[in-house]
Amino acid sequence: MKKIVLAYSGGLDTSVAVKWLADKYNAQIIALLVDVGQGEDLVAAREKACQIGAAKAILIDARKEFVNDYIIPAVTANAVYEDAYPLTTALSRPLIAKLLVDIAQQENADAIAHGCTGKGNDQVRFDVSTRTLAPSLKIIAPAREWDFTRETAIEYAKKNGIPTEITHKKPYSIDANLWGRSIECGVLEDAWVEPPEDIYELTAKPYASEAEYIDVYFEEGIPLKINDKGYPFMDIIMRLNKLAGAHGVGRIDHIENRLVGIKSREIYEAPAAQVLLTAHKALEGLTLPRELLHFKKMMEQKFSELTYYGLWFSPLQKALQSFMETTQKTVTGNVRCKLHQGTCMVVGRKSPFSLYDKALATYDKGDAFDHKSAEGFIKLWGLDSQTFAEVNMDKYRAGQKNNNKGIENVSETLAKSVK
Ligand code: ARG
Repeated sequence: MKKIVLAYSGGLDTSVAVKWLADKYNAQIIALLVDVGQGEDLVAAREKACQIGAAKAILIDARKEFVNDYIIPAVTANAVYEDAYPLTTALSRPLIAKLLVDIAQQENADAIAHGCTGKGNDQVRFDVSTRTLAPSLKIIAPAREWDFTRETAIEYAKKNGIPTEITHKKPYSIDANLWGRSIECGVLEDAWVEPPEDIYELTAKPYASEAEYIDVYFEEGIPLKINDKGYPFMDIIMRLNKLAGAHGVGRIDHIENRLVGIKSREIYEAPAAQVLLTAHKALEGLTLPRELLHFKKMMEQKFSELTYYGLWFSPLQKALQSFMETTQKTVTGNVRCKLHQGTCMVVGRKSPFSLYDKALATYDKGDAFDHKSAEGFIKLWGLDSQTFAEVNMDKYRAGQKNNNKGIENVSETLAKSVK
Protein backbone atom coordinates (compact mmCIF):
# COMPACT_ATOMS: atom_id res chain seq x y z
CA MET A 1 0.00 0.00 0.00
CA LYS A 2 1.29 3.44 -0.84
CA LYS A 3 -0.96 6.00 0.77
CA ILE A 4 -3.53 5.98 3.57
CA VAL A 5 -5.71 8.95 4.51
CA LEU A 6 -6.39 8.85 8.24
CA ALA A 7 -9.13 10.79 10.04
CA TYR A 8 -6.95 12.38 12.69
CA SER A 9 -8.23 14.01 15.88
CA GLY A 10 -5.01 14.65 17.78
CA GLY A 11 -6.03 12.21 20.53
CA LEU A 12 -4.13 9.16 21.73
CA ASP A 13 -5.65 6.54 19.44
CA THR A 14 -5.31 8.35 16.15
CA SER A 15 -1.81 9.51 17.12
CA VAL A 16 -0.76 5.93 17.77
CA ALA A 17 -2.49 5.00 14.50
CA VAL A 18 -0.24 7.29 12.44
CA LYS A 19 2.84 5.33 13.46
CA TRP A 20 1.16 1.93 13.60
CA LEU A 21 -0.34 2.23 10.09
CA ALA A 22 2.89 3.55 8.59
CA ASP A 23 4.81 0.58 10.02
CA LYS A 24 2.27 -2.15 9.35
CA TYR A 25 1.35 -1.17 5.78
CA ASN A 26 4.64 0.45 4.90
CA ALA A 27 2.63 3.40 3.65
CA GLN A 28 2.62 7.17 3.67
CA ILE A 29 0.07 8.53 6.10
CA ILE A 30 -1.95 11.59 5.23
CA ALA A 31 -3.62 12.94 8.35
CA LEU A 32 -6.95 14.65 7.77
CA LEU A 33 -8.25 17.02 10.44
CA VAL A 34 -11.82 18.18 10.02
CA ASP A 35 -13.09 21.21 11.89
CA VAL A 36 -16.77 20.61 12.70
CA GLY A 37 -16.70 23.10 15.57
CA GLN A 38 -15.12 20.86 18.20
CA GLY A 39 -13.34 23.91 19.62
CA GLU A 40 -9.93 22.30 19.82
CA ASP A 41 -6.60 23.64 18.64
CA LEU A 42 -6.49 21.84 15.31
CA VAL A 43 -3.50 23.79 14.05
CA ALA A 44 -1.48 22.38 16.94
CA ALA A 45 -2.95 18.94 16.24
CA ARG A 46 -1.89 19.21 12.59
CA GLU A 47 1.68 19.93 13.69
CA LYS A 48 1.54 17.00 16.04
CA ALA A 49 0.53 14.68 13.20
CA CYS A 50 3.57 15.70 11.18
CA GLN A 51 5.79 15.43 14.22
CA ILE A 52 4.63 11.84 14.74
CA GLY A 53 5.46 10.99 11.17
CA ALA A 54 2.52 11.80 8.90
CA ALA A 55 3.76 12.57 5.39
CA LYS A 56 1.17 15.30 5.16
CA ALA A 57 -1.50 16.79 7.40
CA ILE A 58 -4.53 18.56 5.95
CA LEU A 59 -6.90 20.73 7.97
CA ILE A 60 -10.35 21.42 6.53
CA ASP A 61 -12.78 23.89 8.05
CA ALA A 62 -16.02 22.04 7.33
CA ARG A 63 -18.24 23.94 9.73
CA LYS A 64 -20.34 25.63 7.04
CA GLU A 65 -20.88 22.39 5.19
CA PHE A 66 -21.75 20.69 8.47
CA VAL A 67 -24.35 23.34 9.22
CA ASN A 68 -25.88 23.54 5.74
CA ASP A 69 -25.89 19.93 4.66
CA TYR A 70 -26.24 18.06 7.94
CA ILE A 71 -27.60 20.25 10.76
CA ILE A 72 -30.27 22.02 8.71
CA PRO A 73 -31.76 18.75 7.44
CA ALA A 74 -31.63 17.47 11.03
CA VAL A 75 -33.58 20.49 12.28
CA THR A 76 -36.23 20.23 9.58
CA ALA A 77 -36.56 16.53 10.46
CA ASN A 78 -36.60 17.22 14.24
CA ALA A 79 -33.96 14.51 14.33
CA VAL A 80 -33.61 12.89 17.75
CA TYR A 81 -32.71 9.24 18.40
CA GLU A 82 -34.77 7.38 20.99
CA ASP A 83 -36.52 10.58 22.05
CA ALA A 84 -33.29 11.78 23.64
CA TYR A 85 -30.16 12.10 21.54
CA PRO A 86 -29.97 14.97 19.03
CA LEU A 87 -27.48 12.94 16.95
CA THR A 88 -24.59 15.34 17.50
CA THR A 89 -21.79 12.86 16.81
CA ALA A 90 -23.81 10.81 14.34
CA LEU A 91 -24.35 13.78 12.02
CA SER A 92 -20.66 14.63 11.76
CA ARG A 93 -19.48 11.16 10.72
CA PRO A 94 -20.84 11.02 7.16
CA LEU A 95 -19.34 14.46 6.52
CA ILE A 96 -15.90 13.37 7.77
CA ALA A 97 -16.18 10.19 5.70
CA LYS A 98 -17.06 12.24 2.62
CA LEU A 99 -13.98 14.43 3.15
CA LEU A 100 -11.80 11.35 3.68
CA VAL A 101 -13.01 10.04 0.34
CA ASP A 102 -12.45 13.42 -1.37
CA ILE A 103 -8.87 13.62 -0.11
CA ALA A 104 -8.19 9.96 -0.88
CA GLN A 105 -9.27 10.53 -4.48
CA GLN A 106 -7.33 13.77 -4.74
CA GLU A 107 -4.18 12.16 -3.35
CA ASN A 108 -4.65 8.93 -5.22
CA ALA A 109 -4.60 6.97 -1.99
CA ASP A 110 -5.35 3.26 -1.62
CA ALA A 111 -7.20 3.39 1.66
CA ILE A 112 -8.85 5.51 4.29
CA ALA A 113 -8.49 4.85 8.01
CA HIS A 114 -10.26 5.93 11.17
CA GLY A 115 -9.71 5.48 14.89
CA CYS A 116 -13.02 3.84 15.81
CA THR A 117 -13.20 0.68 17.88
CA GLY A 118 -15.26 -2.38 17.02
CA LYS A 119 -17.86 -1.66 19.70
CA GLY A 120 -19.35 1.61 18.60
CA ASN A 121 -21.65 3.16 16.03
CA ASP A 122 -19.03 5.45 14.56
CA GLN A 123 -17.16 2.66 12.78
CA VAL A 124 -20.42 1.75 11.04
CA ARG A 125 -21.00 5.35 9.98
CA PHE A 126 -17.47 5.77 8.60
CA ASP A 127 -17.43 2.41 6.84
CA VAL A 128 -20.90 2.51 5.32
CA SER A 129 -20.51 6.12 4.15
CA THR A 130 -17.14 5.32 2.58
CA ARG A 131 -18.45 2.20 0.86
CA THR A 132 -21.37 4.16 -0.51
CA LEU A 133 -19.29 7.06 -1.81
CA ALA A 134 -16.26 5.09 -3.04
CA PRO A 135 -16.86 1.34 -3.07
CA SER A 136 -13.34 0.50 -4.21
CA LEU A 137 -11.48 2.30 -1.42
CA LYS A 138 -10.04 0.09 1.30
CA ILE A 139 -11.04 0.89 4.86
CA ILE A 140 -8.68 0.30 7.76
CA ALA A 141 -9.70 0.60 11.39
CA PRO A 142 -6.51 -0.01 13.40
CA ALA A 143 -8.41 -0.15 16.68
CA ARG A 144 -10.31 -3.18 15.36
CA GLU A 145 -7.02 -4.90 14.60
CA TRP A 146 -4.55 -4.04 17.30
CA ASP A 147 -4.89 -5.29 20.85
CA PHE A 148 -3.78 -2.23 22.75
CA THR A 149 -5.36 -1.36 26.06
CA ARG A 150 -5.21 2.26 27.06
CA GLU A 151 -2.09 1.51 29.10
CA THR A 152 -0.23 -0.36 26.36
CA ALA A 153 -1.23 2.31 23.82
CA ILE A 154 0.37 4.92 26.08
CA GLU A 155 3.45 2.72 26.40
CA TYR A 156 3.64 2.34 22.62
CA ALA A 157 3.26 6.12 22.26
CA LYS A 158 6.05 6.82 24.74
CA LYS A 159 8.35 4.33 23.08
CA ASN A 160 7.76 5.98 19.71
CA GLY A 161 8.07 9.58 20.85
CA ILE A 162 4.35 10.34 20.48
CA PRO A 163 3.25 13.04 22.93
CA THR A 164 0.58 11.77 25.34
CA GLU A 165 0.37 14.33 28.10
CA ILE A 166 -3.01 15.88 27.20
CA THR A 167 -4.85 12.63 26.64
CA HIS A 168 -3.40 11.05 29.76
CA LYS A 169 -5.48 12.69 32.45
CA LYS A 170 -8.91 12.67 30.75
CA PRO A 171 -10.98 9.82 32.19
CA TYR A 172 -13.81 10.34 29.65
CA SER A 173 -14.30 9.72 25.99
CA ILE A 174 -15.56 12.95 24.50
CA ASP A 175 -16.69 13.89 21.04
CA ALA A 176 -17.68 17.49 20.37
CA ASN A 177 -18.90 19.60 17.49
CA LEU A 178 -21.13 22.62 16.84
CA TRP A 179 -24.28 20.63 17.54
CA GLY A 180 -23.19 19.42 20.98
CA ARG A 181 -20.93 17.20 23.08
CA SER A 182 -21.07 13.46 23.75
CA ILE A 183 -19.41 12.18 26.92
CA GLU A 184 -18.97 8.58 28.03
CA CYS A 185 -16.71 6.21 30.02
CA GLY A 186 -15.21 6.58 33.49
CA VAL A 187 -17.75 6.79 36.31
CA LEU A 188 -20.50 7.32 33.74
CA GLU A 189 -20.38 3.59 33.00
CA ASP A 190 -22.26 3.06 36.25
CA ALA A 191 -25.82 3.81 35.12
CA TRP A 192 -26.83 4.65 38.69
CA VAL A 193 -24.16 7.29 39.29
CA GLU A 194 -25.16 10.90 38.70
CA PRO A 195 -22.80 12.52 36.19
CA PRO A 196 -20.22 14.65 38.02
CA GLU A 197 -20.28 18.37 37.24
CA ASP A 198 -16.77 18.32 35.80
CA ILE A 199 -17.88 16.53 32.63
CA TYR A 200 -19.89 19.54 31.45
CA GLU A 201 -18.47 22.35 29.40
CA LEU A 202 -21.35 23.94 27.54
CA THR A 203 -23.93 23.94 30.31
CA ALA A 204 -23.55 25.81 33.56
CA LYS A 205 -24.52 25.00 37.11
CA PRO A 206 -25.46 26.87 39.22
CA TYR A 207 -27.86 28.13 36.60
CA ALA A 208 -28.43 31.78 35.86
CA SER A 209 -30.94 32.83 38.51
CA GLU A 210 -33.29 34.91 36.37
CA ALA A 211 -35.38 33.36 33.62
CA GLU A 212 -34.54 34.63 30.16
CA TYR A 213 -36.81 34.89 27.13
CA ILE A 214 -35.51 34.47 23.61
CA ASP A 215 -37.32 34.66 20.31
CA VAL A 216 -36.17 32.36 17.54
CA TYR A 217 -37.30 33.26 14.03
CA PHE A 218 -37.46 30.57 11.34
CA GLU A 219 -37.96 30.93 7.62
CA GLU A 220 -39.09 27.80 5.82
CA GLY A 221 -37.88 25.77 8.77
CA ILE A 222 -34.43 27.36 8.96
CA PRO A 223 -33.48 29.47 12.00
CA LEU A 224 -32.48 32.96 10.82
CA LYS A 225 -32.85 35.34 13.77
CA ILE A 226 -32.54 35.52 17.52
CA ASN A 227 -34.52 38.30 19.19
CA ASP A 228 -35.24 39.80 15.76
CA LYS A 229 -31.56 40.09 14.84
CA GLY A 230 -30.37 38.10 11.85
CA TYR A 231 -27.24 35.92 12.00
CA PRO A 232 -25.76 33.18 9.84
CA PHE A 233 -27.05 29.85 11.13
CA MET A 234 -23.62 28.89 12.45
CA ASP A 235 -23.60 32.03 14.66
CA ILE A 236 -27.12 31.26 15.83
CA ILE A 237 -25.93 27.86 17.03
CA MET A 238 -22.91 29.31 18.81
CA ARG A 239 -24.98 32.08 20.40
CA LEU A 240 -27.64 29.68 21.57
CA ASN A 241 -25.03 27.34 23.00
CA LYS A 242 -23.90 30.26 25.19
CA LEU A 243 -27.33 31.73 25.97
CA ALA A 244 -29.11 28.47 26.74
CA GLY A 245 -25.98 26.84 28.19
CA ALA A 246 -25.92 29.52 30.90
CA HIS A 247 -29.35 28.25 31.99
CA GLY A 248 -28.19 24.66 31.99
CA VAL A 249 -30.45 23.82 29.04
CA GLY A 250 -29.57 20.76 26.96
CA ARG A 251 -28.22 18.20 29.42
CA ILE A 252 -29.22 14.68 28.44
CA ASP A 253 -28.54 11.45 30.31
CA HIS A 254 -29.36 8.54 28.03
CA ILE A 255 -29.14 4.76 28.07
CA GLU A 256 -28.82 4.24 24.38
CA ASN A 257 -29.27 1.26 22.09
CA ARG A 258 -26.25 1.05 19.85
CA LEU A 259 -26.55 -0.52 16.43
CA VAL A 260 -24.11 -3.26 17.45
CA GLY A 261 -26.49 -4.46 20.15
CA ILE A 262 -24.92 -2.88 23.21
CA LYS A 263 -26.76 -0.62 25.62
CA SER A 264 -24.50 2.24 26.61
CA ARG A 265 -24.80 5.20 28.91
CA GLU A 266 -24.00 8.46 27.24
CA ILE A 267 -24.29 12.02 28.47
CA TYR A 268 -24.93 14.80 26.00
CA GLU A 269 -24.99 18.51 26.27
CA ALA A 270 -26.56 20.30 23.39
CA PRO A 271 -28.06 23.65 24.42
CA ALA A 272 -28.55 25.10 20.92
CA ALA A 273 -29.94 21.84 19.57
CA GLN A 274 -32.39 21.60 22.45
CA VAL A 275 -33.69 25.15 21.91
CA LEU A 276 -33.85 24.93 18.13
CA LEU A 277 -35.56 21.55 18.02
CA THR A 278 -38.06 22.59 20.69
CA ALA A 279 -38.82 25.86 18.92
CA HIS A 280 -38.98 24.27 15.49
CA LYS A 281 -41.46 21.65 16.63
CA ALA A 282 -43.59 24.37 18.22
CA LEU A 283 -43.68 26.35 14.98
CA GLU A 284 -44.63 23.26 13.01
CA GLY A 285 -47.38 22.67 15.54
CA LEU A 286 -48.79 26.06 14.60
CA THR A 287 -48.33 25.95 10.84
CA LEU A 288 -48.73 22.35 9.69
CA PRO A 289 -52.05 20.54 9.41
CA ARG A 290 -52.74 17.60 11.71
CA GLU A 291 -52.31 14.71 9.29
CA LEU A 292 -49.04 16.07 7.93
CA LEU A 293 -47.73 16.59 11.47
CA HIS A 294 -48.63 13.06 12.50
CA PHE A 295 -47.25 11.45 9.38
CA LYS A 296 -44.08 13.54 9.51
CA LYS A 297 -43.45 12.38 13.06
CA MET A 298 -43.18 8.79 11.85
CA MET A 299 -40.82 9.84 9.06
CA GLU A 300 -38.76 11.81 11.60
CA GLN A 301 -38.20 8.69 13.60
CA LYS A 302 -37.07 6.81 10.50
CA PHE A 303 -34.79 9.70 9.51
CA SER A 304 -33.23 9.72 12.97
CA GLU A 305 -32.68 5.97 12.98
CA LEU A 306 -31.06 6.00 9.56
CA THR A 307 -28.78 8.80 10.70
CA TYR A 308 -27.86 6.89 13.83
CA TYR A 309 -27.32 3.66 11.91
CA GLY A 310 -24.83 5.24 9.50
CA LEU A 311 -27.16 5.28 6.49
CA TRP A 312 -26.90 9.00 5.81
CA PHE A 313 -26.08 8.49 2.13
CA SER A 314 -28.74 5.85 1.56
CA PRO A 315 -31.51 6.43 -1.00
CA LEU A 316 -34.18 6.33 1.71
CA GLN A 317 -32.41 8.99 3.73
CA LYS A 318 -32.20 11.23 0.67
CA ALA A 319 -35.87 10.65 -0.13
CA LEU A 320 -36.87 11.47 3.45
CA GLN A 321 -34.75 14.59 3.32
CA SER A 322 -36.64 15.87 0.28
CA PHE A 323 -39.93 14.98 1.94
CA MET A 324 -38.92 17.04 4.97
CA GLU A 325 -37.94 19.96 2.75
CA THR A 326 -41.30 20.07 1.01
CA THR A 327 -43.06 20.26 4.37
CA GLN A 328 -41.18 23.39 5.42
CA LYS A 329 -42.58 25.94 2.95
CA THR A 330 -44.86 27.49 5.56
CA VAL A 331 -42.75 26.87 8.66
CA THR A 332 -41.99 30.56 9.05
CA GLY A 333 -42.44 32.66 12.15
CA ASN A 334 -41.29 33.44 15.65
CA VAL A 335 -41.18 31.21 18.70
CA ARG A 336 -40.67 32.60 22.19
CA CYS A 337 -38.74 30.34 24.54
CA LYS A 338 -38.30 30.75 28.26
CA LEU A 339 -34.95 29.50 29.52
CA HIS A 340 -34.83 28.75 33.19
CA GLN A 341 -33.15 26.27 35.53
CA GLY A 342 -32.23 23.73 32.89
CA THR A 343 -35.46 23.97 30.93
CA CYS A 344 -36.49 25.50 27.65
CA MET A 345 -40.23 26.07 27.49
CA VAL A 346 -42.13 27.44 24.55
CA VAL A 347 -44.38 30.23 25.81
CA GLY A 348 -45.45 31.90 22.57
CA ARG A 349 -45.52 31.44 18.81
CA LYS A 350 -46.71 33.42 15.78
CA SER A 351 -46.61 33.00 12.04
CA PRO A 352 -48.07 34.55 8.91
CA PHE A 353 -49.08 30.96 8.04
CA SER A 354 -50.59 30.16 11.42
CA LEU A 355 -53.43 27.66 11.22
CA TYR A 356 -54.54 28.53 14.72
CA ASP A 357 -57.87 30.32 14.40
CA LYS A 358 -58.95 31.92 17.64
CA ALA A 359 -62.50 32.34 16.35
CA LEU A 360 -62.71 28.56 15.91
CA ALA A 361 -60.95 27.69 19.15
CA THR A 362 -62.51 30.15 21.56
CA TYR A 363 -64.98 29.29 24.32
CA ASP A 364 -65.74 32.99 24.71
CA LYS A 365 -67.93 35.14 22.52
CA GLY A 366 -67.09 35.44 18.86
CA ASP A 367 -67.19 31.66 18.50
CA ALA A 368 -67.28 30.90 14.76
CA PHE A 369 -67.39 27.13 15.07
CA ASP A 370 -70.51 25.44 13.70
CA HIS A 371 -71.60 23.41 16.72
CA LYS A 372 -74.55 21.82 14.92
CA SER A 373 -72.40 20.21 12.29
CA ALA A 374 -70.54 18.32 15.04
CA GLU A 375 -73.42 15.92 15.65
CA GLY A 376 -73.67 14.69 12.06
CA PHE A 377 -69.89 14.43 11.82
CA ILE A 378 -69.69 12.30 14.94
CA LYS A 379 -72.51 10.00 13.73
CA LEU A 380 -70.59 9.25 10.55
CA TRP A 381 -67.23 9.09 12.31
CA GLY A 382 -68.50 6.34 14.60
CA LEU A 383 -70.66 4.60 11.97
CA ASP A 384 -68.02 2.01 11.13
CA SER A 385 -67.58 0.88 14.75
CA GLN A 386 -71.31 1.06 15.38
CA THR A 387 -72.12 -1.15 12.38
CA PHE A 388 -69.60 -3.74 13.48
CA ALA A 389 -70.99 -3.73 17.01
CA GLU A 390 -74.57 -4.19 15.75
CA VAL A 391 -73.70 -7.12 13.48
CA ASN A 392 -71.56 -8.82 16.09
CA MET A 393 -73.57 -7.90 19.14
CA ASP A 394 -73.34 -11.36 20.75
CA LYS A 395 -69.66 -11.96 20.24
CA TYR A 396 -68.95 -8.39 21.20
CA ARG A 397 -70.81 -8.73 24.48
CA ALA A 398 -69.23 -12.12 25.16
CA GLY A 399 -65.81 -10.63 24.61
CA GLN A 400 -66.59 -7.87 27.04
CA LYS A 401 -67.70 -10.46 29.61
CA ASN A 402 -64.54 -12.49 29.21
CA ASN A 403 -62.51 -9.41 29.73
CA ASN A 404 -64.39 -8.70 32.90
CA LYS A 405 -63.90 -12.28 33.98
CA GLY A 406 -60.20 -11.87 33.39
CA ILE A 407 -60.18 -8.88 35.63
CA GLU A 408 -62.18 -10.71 38.33
CA ASN A 409 -59.71 -13.60 38.20
CA VAL A 410 -56.81 -11.26 38.61
CA SER A 411 -58.37 -9.58 41.61
CA GLU A 412 -59.19 -12.97 43.14
CA THR A 413 -55.58 -14.08 42.76
CA LEU A 414 -54.45 -10.78 44.18
CA ALA A 415 -56.82 -11.09 47.11
CA LYS A 416 -55.49 -14.60 47.77
CA SER A 417 -51.89 -13.55 47.64
CA VAL A 418 -52.58 -10.72 50.05
CA LYS A 419 -54.13 -13.17 52.49
N1 ARG B 1 -23.32 7.43 21.33
C1 ARG B 1 -23.15 8.46 20.37
C2 ARG B 1 -23.34 7.96 18.99
O1 ARG B 1 -23.23 6.79 18.75
C3 ARG B 1 -21.83 9.19 20.53
C4 ARG B 1 -20.62 8.39 20.19
C5 ARG B 1 -19.30 9.08 20.48
N2 ARG B 1 -19.20 9.36 21.87
C6 ARG B 1 -18.10 9.62 22.56
N3 ARG B 1 -18.27 9.93 23.79
N4 ARG B 1 -16.92 9.56 22.05
O2 ARG B 1 -23.59 8.72 18.10
